[in-house]
Amino acid sequence: MRVDLIIKNIGKLVTCKDLGRPKIGKEMNELEIIENAYIAIRDGKVIEIGVEDGYKSIANNYTKIEDAKGLLVTPGLIDSHTHLVHGGSRENEFSKKLASVPYIEILNEGGGILSTVNATKNATEQQLYDKAKKSLDRMLELGVTTAESKSGYGLELETELKQLKVSNKLGKEHPIDLVHTFLGAHAVPVEYKTNHKPFIDEVVNKMMPKVKELGLAEFCDVFCEEGVFTIEETEYILSKAKQMGYKLKIHADEIVSLGGAELAAKLNCTSADHLMAASEDGLKMMAKNNVIANILPGTSFNLNKAYANARKMIDLNVGVSLSSDYNPGSCPSENLQFVMQLGCLGLKMTPYEVLNAVTINAAYCIDRQNEVGSIEIGKKADFVVFDAPNVEYLMYHFGINHVNQVYKNGTLVVD
Ligand code: NIG
Ligand code: FE
Repeated sequence: MRVDLIIKNIGKLVTCKDLGRPKIGKEMNELEIIENAYIAIRDGKVIEIGVEDGYKSIANNYTKIEDAKGLLVTPGLIDSHTHLVHGGSRENEFSKKLASVPYIEILNEGGGILSTVNATKNATEQQLYDKAKKSLDRMLELGVTTAESKSGYGLELETELKQLKVSNKLGKEHPIDLVHTFLGAHAVPVEYKTNHKPFIDEVVNKMMPKVKELGLAEFCDVFCEEGVFTIEETEYILSKAKQMGYKLKIHADEIVSLGGAELAAKLNCTSADHLMAASEDGLKMMAKNNVIANILPGTSFNLNKAYANARKMIDLNVGVSLSSDYNPGSCPSENLQFVMQLGCLGLKMTPYEVLNAVTINAAYCIDRQNEVGSIEIGKKADFVVFDAPNVEYLMYHFGINHVNQVYKNGTLVVD
């Protein structure tokens, strides 16, 4: 048997084992932890997991052996909601934010998302690429090996395509694997403020078919919020998207409880994201229809808003994932480890629940559960060696980067 690489002497190997569906309820607080373990890899995939010096019987002269020095190893982290590719930044709005001017008010004055739309229109493909690459490099250093990436800063065909092309190029060229989402309905351009219909027609009849034809996005998402897209508009856009073969996501019930969770259940979305204001009925419907609740506590932290009710979601058997929402407005940070710490400190999730939420459940959130999210035979050899004695330590010691090494497809990419 050919073995390319063995990582031995893993103090604690956390596999985040896949149950064949997202973890819910008490399962979220369960982790398989193998002590003094090794992992064997061939062609970028895991081919064996064992303990102690069992690897000696499969290693040969060609096998590279790395020593994890007794540290903690987890699956590569998955950031299942980001607005990775965009132009510019919004520190010019920071003082308004600090003075408690609401996020939606800044948007309605032509700032917020709309100011990033201008910056993205004015940026060249190369500029967008370079900026997003810098963010991906940061994510990788923090242990992220797979991420989702949304468009939504074009609001017209040309710029949406530009963003998605950059995203697809990065997905091929950067060690982080990317899953692409079309978010043409992210804000209403000023000229359509009083009449959304022609803009929605542009999104549905012009942008969605073109993006699909070019194979640039697998998911379609809408920012469903008071003052942005209504429930009815969101349902119309996403139903059309479904007909075209997109998988679905919704920015749902972030600020106002509009019924986004209910709609996500009705449309069988893969995930509903944010949910800070989601109703209990909506959450129950999500549980019934297996919609993942993708919670973004970095946004609550940064907007100084209440955290989503993660405890209630877990009690109701909704599968929970966590992600950064990295974007220039509501969460200008790529740091998924900080998000994990907020998962404990803000959402009151346990460290085990948090780790499941950024690995296996995050994989389900982007439909990559067959490739990533757990360390198991046949899956990609994506993992993080953390300079930490146990899982709890990752959340307890906050605000620093615990990564010692990152492997992607069995290749050492951060050391
Ligand atoms: O997920 N809420 C809408 N979209 C993003 C923010 C985008 C921005 O402010 O640029 C979010 O929070
Ligand atoms: Fe978002």
